[in-house]
Amino acid sequence: EKVPLKLEVNGVKHSLSVEPRVTLLDLLREQLQLTGTKKGCDHGQCGACTVHINGRRQNSCLTLAVMHEGKKVTTIEGLANGIQLHPMQEAFIKHDGFQCGYCTPGQIMSAVACIREGHAGSEAEIREYMSGNICRCGAYPNIVDAITEVKN
Ligand code: FES
Repeated sequence: EKVPLKLEVNGVKHSLSVEPRVTLLDLLREQLQLTGTKKGCDHGQCGACTVHINGRRQNSCLTLAVMHEGKKVTTIEGLANGIQLHPMQEAFIKHDGFQCGYCTPGQIMSAVACIREGHAGSEAEIREYMSGNICRCGAYPNIVDAITEVKN
């Protein structure tokens, strides 16, 4: 049986009706058509589904949508300001922080949170914070460079 859910996604308020077992990831992708947030493992292992909830990062596959009544969710679609990319998006382009791009939305959401939450003090600290975001192409050094540039 569906239950009512109000939440704000990328500045847009939604009044939804959702099944209690639906993850936040599936809600975003399938009900709101925000497919920038990726499903890699669906088990909290890859970070492709990373979003921000009230400004803090969260693997959206690991949490039920109904747990977020009244909260503010930001996805990769909400990061840019109109056509002006977020500085972290610009830095990923400049430093080639991706190859296939599948992990990139999650990487960028984590990268923004890394700085915001104060975990970008050193390369080691950045690597530790970003360790939940897996990249099969091995773009890690370039991702660290992008984060380091935005931090400075
Ligand atoms: Fe959520 Fe992999 S899809 S961590």
